Amino acid sequence: MDAQLLLDLAARYGTPLYVYDGDLVRQRYRDLFTFIPYPGLKIHYAMKANYNPALLSLLRDAGAALDTVSPAEVLMALKLGFPKDRIIFTANNLTDAETAEVHALGVLMNIGSLSRLRKFAAAFPGSRVCLRFNPDVVDGDSINTMTGGDLTKFGILLEKVEEVKAIVAAGNLKVVGLHEHTGSGLQHAESVYQAMKNLMAIATPENFPDLEFLDFGGGFKVPYRPDEKRIDYVSMGAEITRLFEAFCRDYGRPLGLYFEPGKFMVAEAGVLLVEVNTIKHNRTRTIAGCNAGFPQLIRPVFYQAYHHIANLSNPDGPLSVYDVCGNICETGDRFAEQRELPEIREGDILAIENAGAYCYSMGGVYNLRPMPAEVVVADHRARLVRPALNSAELVDAILGECHF
Ligand code: LLP
Repeated sequence: MDAQLLLDLAARYGTPLYVYDGDLVRQRYRDLFTFIPYPGLKIHYAMKANYNPALLSLLRDAGAALDTVSPAEVLMALKLGFPKDRIIFTANNLTDAETAEVHALGVLMNIGSLSRLRKFAAAFPGSRVCLRFNPDVVDGDSINTMTGGDLTKFGILLEKVEEVKAIVAAGNLKVVGLHEHTGSGLQHAESVYQAMKNLMAIATPENFPDLEFLDFGGGFKVPYRPDEKRIDYVSMGAEITRLFEAFCRDYGRPLGLYFEPGKFMVAEAGVLLVEVNTIKHNRTRTIAGCNAGFPQLIRPVFYQAYHHIANLSNPDGPLSVYDVCGNICETGDRFAEQRELPEIREGDILAIENAGAYCYSMGGVYNLRPMPAEVVVADHRARLVRPALNSAELVDAILGECHF
């Protein structure tokens, strides 16, 4: 987004402030249909990445479906007008009550453990269901978000197919989809192909005669560092299409091809604008202290993730090295450590980039600092979608829901 526009928004709405480029989100959604030219492609945006209602509404109008992971996500999706057949529910370690709640809403359940499948078959015999398998491929941009392989809690092991079939038969379930999700920020195109092949290998008409789709999860990576190469999604999409068409020929009919991207759709569309209020020289380090902290954007602290930072107020200043720190009472509260940036002065506005995915949605109010407001820019218009609470409003909100 244009630096002057961001500075204007910071002046108009104050900082810290999340700004999202809604046009880019819509473009990313459309891009996937260009990259993967398979007629039965369906994109279930992983709304956990960013559940801003204006962005969700844009995607709803563009025709997108949703991947949801909690009853509240399902309820929000339905309230925003997503039809239930455009929602898939992929939670893990569900309670019976949550399962019943979502099933009653008519949303397709994606089940990832034999234990839950048995309980589901007993409670809701004859239902349609999707089954999540562990793809047995390990990839991702953080050890915490790799979901394939032995060390994770996700999915049913591929070798358990016979047990699955027995449960399905006993409950007269109709398995309409198979699913896998390998991880977030997949580093190698080969991992996507291998995970597809592993799932397709068990997706035979003998094992699962009622399939309507295969869902290969999310994980499409976007660059976070300036020198990071963008994946060639045109050639990846062509290979995905080739593999899936060959699979459908073997299966005997064309099936739906589903993906569930989160980061790919929204990461690059967001920035967090913060204002530097304190410059401090600590012998070997220069610290630029900002008016937000890790509860408002946790990825650098939580995943040691790199987020590029631009000094919007002084882009041509002489370069210097900074620790860009937040306002929370912990030493680890840094957005960047020893980062070279154009000279930062008190009052400068910094843009923390790639803040569209898993930033606001993973936020909290630790130290009782309110979450930033959110602005969406789309169709040549900037809209304040969610104002920030001020400190008094935050306190009232917390005390208002307590009994003591
Ligand atoms: N489908 C399933 C079943 C998932 O668990 C996820 C992400 C996605 C799709 C979307 O993955 P994506 O396309 O966004 O990589 N908080 C972490 C990422 C957690 C991803 C969790 N599951 C981060 O900030 O890197």
